[in-house]
Amino acid sequence: MKTENAPSILRSDYVPLAWRIDHLDLHFNLDPVATIVKSRLRCVRNALAPAAPLRLFGEDIELLDLTVNGAQPAPDAIRRTADGIEIALEGESAEIEIATRIDPSANTTLSGLYLSRGGFFTQCEAEGFRRITFFPDRPDAMTRFTVTLEADTATCPVLLSNGNLIEQGPLDGGRHYARWEDPFPKPSYLFALVAANLVSLERRVNTASGREVLLQVWVEDGNLDRAGHAMDSLIHSMRWDEETFGLELDLDRFMIVAVSDFNMGAMENKGLNIFNSKYVLAKPDTATDIDYENIESVVAHEYFHNWTGNRVTCRDWFQLTLKEGLTVFRDQQFSADMLGRMAEAGGEAAAASARAVKRIDDVRVLRTAQFAEDAGPMAHPIRPDSYQEINNFYTATVYEKGAEVIRMLHTLLGAEGFRNGMDLYFSYHDGQAVTCDDFVDCMAEANGRDLDQFMRWYGQAGTPRVTAQGHYDAESRSYTLTLTQHTPPTPGQPEKLPLVIPVAVGLIGPDGTDLPLRLQADNHGATTKLIELTEAEQSFEFTDLDFEPVPSLLRGFSAPVILELDDDDARLAFRMAHDSDAFNRWDAAQRYAERVILALAADAAAGRPLAVPDAFVSAFRALLTNDALDPAFRAQAAALPAEAYLLERMTVADPALLRAALMALMRELGGALSDEWLTLYRKHEVTGPYRYHPADAGRRALRNLALKYLAAAGVGEGLERAHAQFARFDNMTEGFGALAALVNSANPAREAALDTFHRRYRDDALVLDKWFALQAGAWRWNAEAAPVLERVRRLMGDPDFSIENPNKVYALLGSFFRANPAEFHLPDGSGYVFWADQVLALDRRNPQVASRVARALESWRRFTPEIRDRVGVQLERVRSVVGLSPDVAEIIDKALQNGR
Ligand code: TRP
Ligand code: ZN
Repeated sequence: MKTENAPSILRSDYVPLAWRIDHLDLHFNLDPVATIVKSRLRCVRNALAPAAPLRLFGEDIELLDLTVNGAQPAPDAIRRTADGIEIALEGESAEIEIATRIDPSANTTLSGLYLSRGGFFTQCEAEGFRRITFFPDRPDAMTRFTVTLEADTATCPVLLSNGNLIEQGPLDGGRHYARWEDPFPKPSYLFALVAANLVSLERRVNTASGREVLLQVWVEDGNLDRAGHAMDSLIHSMRWDEETFGLELDLDRFMIVAVSDFNMGAMENKGLNIFNSKYVLAKPDTATDIDYENIESVVAHEYFHNWTGNRVTCRDWFQLTLKEGLTVFRDQQFSADMLGRMAEAGGEAAAASARAVKRIDDVRVLRTAQFAEDAGPMAHPIRPDSYQEINNFYTATVYEKGAEVIRMLHTLLGAEGFRNGMDLYFSYHDGQAVTCDDFVDCMAEANGRDLDQFMRWYGQAGTPRVTAQGHYDAESRSYTLTLTQHTPPTPGQPEKLPLVIPVAVGLIGPDGTDLPLRLQADNHGATTKLIELTEAEQSFEFTDLDFEPVPSLLRGFSAPVILELDDDDARLAFRMAHDSDAFNRWDAAQRYAERVILALAADAAAGRPLAVPDAFVSAFRALLTNDALDPAFRAQAAALPAEAYLLERMTVADPALLRAALMALMRELGGALSDEWLTLYRKHEVTGPYRYHPADAGRRALRNLALKYLAAAGVGEGLERAHAQFARFDNMTEGFGALAALVNSANPAREAALDTFHRRYRDDALVLDKWFALQAGAWRWNAEAAPVLERVRRLMGDPDFSIENPNKVYALLGSFFRANPAEFHLPDGSGYVFWADQVLALDRRNPQVASRVARALESWRRFTPEIRDRVGVQLERVRSVVGLSPDVAEIIDKALQNGR
């Protein structure tokens, strides 16, 4: 086992491999408690690197035998190190043979080779391969793999690995074997095997160049009726990558396997993607619209990695955003295109709105998760300079901010320029392990553009603040916009330099329509212009304007920054009513809501009555009832900003005050607008069988939101509607939406509804996850109800809960710690003792999951002094435990060291 006090690994310490492994032959004799792995490595000296011994990593595995060129190595040629073995080799090449023994049944980390429901599965990213065999387990070691699997025929009838199946057959003793060959060299983190009892949904399709390929989605028997959407998503992803980037599937066979026990979302192993079953299985009765959308985007994400990640991979783990930021950007574009295309039947405006709604979703995630990370003790650039445990750096910064950085390149260079850069990237680097500089260099070269200053986005942590000051001169009919930028210090980075910030600008006239824009020294008009802020302060002049305009800045969220606007309430209401940019219109509504909520929290702090301003209710009503706007957009605009985001926006985070403010606002908007909500509810009913479609999903979202507000306000007719919807639903979006409204109300019938739901889905693990998450995240609308912590404790003892299953942990504990701040941060501090107990219990089994749970308290220094005192004690308590994993140790150390 790895334990704490891991040294920091530095990006600047990179040294190329002294020995390349040009071929690896692996043989697995699979057994639940004693699997024997034999490997043969063909090593070739790398003339371009300094001479050094062959370094093999190994972790928690037993070495049985090792030979060099068929003989035992001399004792002084081989050395055990803290993390593996070093072998001194002579000559230009060598053949190493290694036998190891592993116990998959004892592997609770879900990294390396492990068991799930009787089957064998692997997870090797980032450093799991070293838990299988001794190997140069780093991403620049690109190797051709051949893999032979032997297992029990009865329990493991299906034997899969990367690439093409070249041989299979029976063996003695009820066993069988299969041999797979991957024609493409790959790093060990992309290796995978599956040996289990599964069935597959199959399709044969042709690639753009006319090659027939076999697609398979492997699931447990009984789940085939839930595999269709994942298969459709895969086919759509293939088509999109062919059309958008000219990239084709390069294998004859592509497989997706669903597994119930998985630390993350999914994994892009070459030709054998392994997925958390949550991102594969869907049918109308068990999956919500959001589940359908997530499956489509995760399937696409992993498929897109085949080019951005696998064909061209990372030189070292510091470059993780090279594949992740780029692939998230690609999956976001894909989903927007798919949603837009589906919505097209409703007209061009419907298509544009569907795309905007997707953008809003993505920005919500960024602002909630990534901005908080960037403001806390774990703040790091999208390309970090150091880490202790790489698993801690699969973060919102590397993924989501990384995707925003790629999006800015796309915005600055245009779709065509970006495509040219991608083409150049593949022409130079196919089959290589490269760096983020290599990628940006291709973008620069293909477009004849200097991107040196742009590269600062890769090195600077923290969210830049942009301010805007406008000045209209009636005499010269010109408007001067002065923008400033400033990035606050982050741990280890006291000073920041100006970044290249693309700002999409529109100017709105007094009648609410966009004014044609003329930037000084350019004479083609348009209503949105892209300006580039590259200095700490810069002015831009717009000419030929007859009126003082209202600026609409950062349209479409053109850069991952915090735009500090001093718009007054009237201006926000004006942009909420008129901004032609859907994103900014939504943003104006969110800013106005935020302002009202923070004012209500201040009222609560001062013991004043909590009064919602009429002007806000009017603006909210106008937006909600504007039938020219698509229902999905209205549902987005009428949903309050996330609680976690609002906590970040409070000068001193106080979850109790914030919750009081949110409850007061929900009650007011539910009650004062009850007629409007009920009308919307009636008007937007979706008839006919369920289909996953943005138009239907938007209507369902708006109706469910109506139920939520009405139930919160205790409006009798609203509660009746929720009960009726819950009593006879045929799709999970409506069933769960009604249940969620009932649970988040003071209505006593909520317990009976929870029981009904539990009974109906008793045997459905994924649906039960929703049931756990809903209860852990519930607000206490009834002041007499018991604290949610009591319920969470009770649910941990439920026979359907299991601390061994990451989905269950994230559903119950993750929802409580992250989605329910007011209940987690109860004044008596009981939540923190519970948190520490759970982190420690999880850490003994699965450090990756423990570390994710531990991160729920990393921003503790932003809270009230009472909270800080109590959290501090528990952080110290966790830190003092002997044998803490490096994963959790890194998080706790940083939380304790890097205050703010
Ligand atoms: N590369 C995977 C993705 O982005 C992420 C991933 C899956 C992962 N499983 C993991 C990362 C385990 C670290 C550990 O889709
Ligand atoms: Zn990824």
